Amino acid sequence: MHLPQPRGPFSTAVVDRLIDPSPTTEGGLRTAVRESATGIADDEDRLLALWLVHGLSYHGYTGVDPDLEWDLPLLQARVRLEAALEQDLLAAARPVVEELLPEAASDLTATLFSLPDRVAADAPSISAWARSTMTLEQWREMLVLRSASQLKEADPHSFAIPRIPGAAKVALMEIQFDEYGAGNPAALHSALFGKAMSAVGLDASYGGYAESWPGEVLLANVALGWFAGRRRWAPAVVGHLTMVETTSSLPSKFYVAGARRLGLPEPAWRYFDEHVEADAAHEQVAVRDVCGALVAQSPEALTTLLTGAVVGLTVEAAVAEQAMGAWRQGGSCLRSPLRPWVAA
Ligand SMILES: [Fe+2]
Ligand SMILES: [Fe+2]
Repeated sequence: MHLPQPRGPFSTAVVDRLIDPSPTTEGGLRTAVRESATGIADDEDRLLALWLVHGLSYHGYTGVDPDLEWDLPLLQARVRLEAALEQDLLAAARPVVEELLPEAASDLTATLFSLPDRVAADAPSISAWARSTMTLEQWREMLVLRSASQLKEADPHSFAIPRIPGAAKVALMEIQFDEYGAGNPAALHSALFGKAMSAVGLDASYGGYAESWPGEVLLANVALGWFAGRRRWAPAVVGHLTMVETTSSLPSKFYVAGARRLGLPEPAWRYFDEHVEADAAHEQVAVRDVCGALVAQSPEALTTLLTGAVVGLTVEAAVAEQAMGAWRQGGSCLRSPLRPWVAA
């Protein structure tokens, strides 16, 4: 993908470094790190900076040296930005996790299945809006928001595979095998999402709309990228994945209904249709077999697992609040609205 436009001094310093890894840009990046304040969750500039650095471990950038994934100044920036992220996200998640711990220790399955309704109880439902009200323009914006995660669906969670033990690893592989198409490249979930985008005239290449993503999308993306990049947070990746799976099947049904209401063709809703059944199974495997086995083998992983689950629900709720706030007022949730599209 092409590098997006920076959103402030920190992301400018990162982009400059990616384009030209010279002593000059090293100095600029060190200055950005030194002058960086605490608090990142509301700062699009530093969220984009972190997203850009994480991207070196996934898709990379056109014309950028892949070895910059291990460039020391960029790694120092990453450590600084992730420390700010950790501070922000844990300050919000820790009290919730502490309250959940006793019941999770005695009945993990019931606690995990109840979490979405408890942690994100006040969050508006984009899928319910899709089923009943969403316009075609909003449908396309919804895909653009989700493209940050879905066009690399399953990839961040796969970083947990080598980092969790025995039975939990085996169960996680069962889920990931489906996410990666169950042996059929055309059934890759990320590819199905790409087809859903193409079906409504959108660019399905990763990051094609990075400049349009609001800060909430960047926050959701870097939160998982932070967990996925560190072995010590592997149980949080599992907790995050589990919430993705437990909040997918019924909403996917709503998206299918919404797409049909809008008269969209099968490739536009196939991705969602696939997830109605797949995630009804995945949520069971995730909760019972991945989380259950992980905590049975490593009881000390419970706090981290719950942290990943709570953080995941919280950042996704923020995405929904931002988008629905804009749509309810008849506006665009993107930083720059899409060009109108008319089906051929
Ligand atoms: Fe999937
Ligand atoms: Fe799934």
